[in-house]
Parts: sequence; structure tokens; C-alpha cells
Amino acid sequence: MITQVEKVNELHPEEAIIEKAADILRRGGLVAFPTETVYGLGADALLAEGAKNIYAAKGRPSDNPLIVHIARWEDLYKIAVDIPPQAKALADAFWPGPLTMIFKKSETVPYETTGGLDTVAVRMPSHPVALALIRQSGGFLAAPSANTSGRPSPTRASHVAEDLDGRIPLILDGGAVGIGIESTIVDVSFLTKDAAGAWNTDELPMILRPGYITHAMLSDVIGAVCDDPGFAPDSTVRPKAPGMKYKHYAPKADILIVAGEEAAVAAHINACAKADGAQGIKTGVLCTDQTKTAYVADVVKSMGDRRQEVEIMQNLYAFLREFDALGVQQIYAESFADLEAGGAIMNRLLKAAGYRMVSLPGEIESETKQ
Ligand code: TXA
Ligand code: MG
Repeated sequence: MITQVEKVNELHPEEAIIEKAADILRRGGLVAFPTETVYGLGADALLAEGAKNIYAAKGRPSDNPLIVHIARWEDLYKIAVDIPPQAKALADAFWPGPLTMIFKKSETVPYETTGGLDTVAVRMPSHPVALALIRQSGGFLAAPSANTSGRPSPTRASHVAEDLDGRIPLILDGGAVGIGIESTIVDVSFLTKDAAGAWNTDELPMILRPGYITHAMLSDVIGAVCDDPGFAPDSTVRPKAPGMKYKHYAPKADILIVAGEEAAVAAHINACAKADGAQGIKTGVLCTDQTKTAYVADVVKSMGDRRQEVEIMQNLYAFLREFDALGVQQIYAESFADLEAGGAIMNRLLKAAGYRMVSLPGEIESETKQ
């Protein structure tokens, strides 16, 4: 299959291009498109065939459910049932935007889309290209990140092409994305009503995947929320989002995260890189503008100013891919746990690192969570 790449105006997408893409989608085909978080690989969410095509193109396990993207609040009622008041409040605050919510599904949604689950993940993205494409193709687009399974999520059209060239008919190129890390996922599907039909207030919505919308931002809107115990790095419980259990987001190189005081981190990384170099291993360092001159390795990459958190999010996946392209075999990364978006960034970085992290002074805290 030949993969066509169409440049599309990211603010005012050209109608003819959107219609060409929508036509492929209405027939069960696949189109990669930009969202504000990462590029998505879209298919009609209400066609079993569409979901099957996604799993095949990505090489994704078919028990890993897809997020359904909508463009209008009313459309939620076609695919979800028992929508609790917290969901309306969160949608008013954060939709369109980088928030996904899990609901009980309606019969309209095929099990192929939900990986066999009775719940459905729904998001209304804010990217104009995504919204235009959803509307034009019928209102419901299943879209996982447009990478092959296990690779870092794509934040540019060229990343999609790296992974999926020859496997999908069309990529819409709307430039680099604005956020760079996948949406925050909040589960409200298990909330219940009492005998009189009122929603129980003692049950807390649960964050299944951290993202740009933080725990604090969510609780500002709906009060207390809880975290899925399964996504903590030291957890022995399985995460509730099926996708979070897979080793994910990983480049080909090994990654070690080194946390601690600035000078000690640089000294440790430089010593490791020197030892690697002596064995002919190509090394890379993932750091920030504040520290980049302190490192000696084959490739030193600054993710940006430590105070510009969005820039760091935007660059993370792209840099992991660049290290691969440069043939780097061992990556050393600083920790970003202290940032406000640190929860989301470290969640992705730890997974990419297979949970290998050293906190100085101290030993390697290596983990074998699968
Ligand atoms: O920002 C995003 O969310 C991007 C863009 C394209 O919208 N999409 C994305 O999709 O990250 P994906 O498929 O790469 O990740 C979806 C995650 C997976 O971890 C999956 O297991 C979880 O959402 N998920 C989907 N449906 C679920 C459900 N019904 N219950 C629990 N987890 C679910
Ligand atoms: Mg993904």
C-alpha cells in the first residue's frame, strides 16, 4: 500500500482534504491525523472493521481498547450510558481538550472498539483538524496513538510515517503537536446511583493515566479524585487501563533515569557514559538547558528550559526517536519529578526506561513490572 501524506492547514483545514480523509474512514479505512496531544490513527469507531484495521496496522494486542473521539457533547449520549454529573462538569471545564473519560458503553459501540470491555473511553480533542475530520466522517473516530505498538507516540507526521509507511493509505500532516503527551484518562464508569436514583457522592472518579490535565486541575472542578494504584512506579497491582500494562513508549536504546542533586547527577552520568564509551557503547544524555554543558557523552540533548514544562512534554517522544535514529544504545535521563507536569512526564519516562532509575546517593532501583 502506498501511504500518501497530505499537508493540511492546522487552523483552517482545507475541506477537500478533510473530505478525502473522511471518505476513507467511512469505508472502514485508516487515516492518521494530528490532535493536540499526539497524532492519532483514526477509524470509524462504530464499524467493527475499522477497529480491526487499527489493531492490524499498529500490531496492537486486540484486548487493548481504543479511545472514541467525538466533536459534540450530545454525541456522547449515543455511545455512553449512565453519564454521571462529574463527567458533565469535567467536560465543561476541559472539553475540547486533553482529557479522556471512561463510561459504560451503549450497544452502538462494537466490542472490537472497546477490546471486549463493557466500558468505552471518550475524548473530545481540541485540534481543528481532528474536529473537522470527526464531524465529516460521521462523528465517532476510534484513535489510538499513531505509532506501532511499543514505540514512542508520534508528535509529528514524520514519526507516523516512520512507523506506519506502507500500512495505511493517508497521513494528514498538521505540523508538530502542542502538548506532546497523551491525554489524562479518568474513569467514571464505576460510579453508581442509590436506590432513589441519586448518584452516590462517596465514590471517587479515578485517574487511570496521568497527563497534561493534572490531579489538582481535576479536583479543582469536581472535588476529590483518586489515582489508579496500578500506575505508581513501585506498584505491584495491575493498572486498570489495559494499555498501561504493556512495556510502552520505548525507544530501542536502554534508558536509565538518574535523580538527585544537579552536580551529583552530572558526575554519575559522565562516569557511566565514560565506562560505556570504553566498551564501544554509544551514549546519549537527556537533560535541560540549565545543565546541558555539564555532560560528556556521544549525544547530549536538551529538552528545553526546565521552567517551560510544555516544551519538555513536546520534546520527550521526539527526542527518544532521535536517539534511535542516531544509533544511541544507552540513554541517561535526568528526573523531571519536581515539575508540575512531572507526574505525566515521569510516568512516560519510567515506562520507556522499564522503571530503571537511580536516586543519588543510592543504588539502582530497578523494577520488573510487566
Ligand atoms: O491523547 C490521547 O489520548 C491519544 C490521542 C490520539 O487522542 N490517544 C491515545 O490512545 O493515547 P491509546 O490507544 O494510545 O491509549 C489509550 C489508553 C490505553 O492505555 C487503553 O488501555 C486505555 O486508554 N483505555 C481505552 N479504553 C479503555 C477502557 N474502556 N477502560 C480502561 N482503559 C481504557
Ligand atoms: Mg498509545
